[in-house]
Amino acid sequence: MSEDNNRDSLIAAARMALENSYSPYSKFRVGAALHFADGTVVTGTNIENASYGLALCAETVAVAKAMDDGHRGGLEEVAVIGETAAPITPCGRCRQVLNELAGLGGTDPVVWCAGEDDVVKTHLSDLLPQAFGPASLKG
Ligand code: THU
Repeated sequence: MSEDNNRDSLIAAARMALENSYSPYSKFRVGAALHFADGTVVTGTNIENASYGLALCAETVAVAKAMDDGHRGGLEEVAVIGETAAPITPCGRCRQVLNELAGLGGTDPVVWCAGEDDVVKTHLSDLLPQAFGPASLKG
């Protein structure tokens, strides 16, 4: 599969995921999709709460679903999409959450940041340089 096909299908999966968004407060639907080395794709969408600060981002939901399915590393690509013209990037908390899973497999996943009109390719290490991770706890 060419990189572009991979990109387009992962973004399509993220876009489908946002159909299940529960975002009555922000009305900002977000979808995320994770592609693993074994070919698995795990998606997530944002889930808000009447206690606004408890909102779960799409990427964090996807990571939780993947880890609950047993994934520990092998994270090769991430796609995130919002319903804005310009691409959205993962929030700071989601970068940290993605970093934990990626670090378990020693990968630096491509992150496709998508909007309705544009896609930007980046890597997790560019979004979260000098990350705090498990090794940081050991000094
Ligand atoms: N949101 C995500 O799902 N992912 C991000 O990386 C940024 C923000 C969600 C959280 C909230 O439900 C809505 O977008 C508005 O901030």
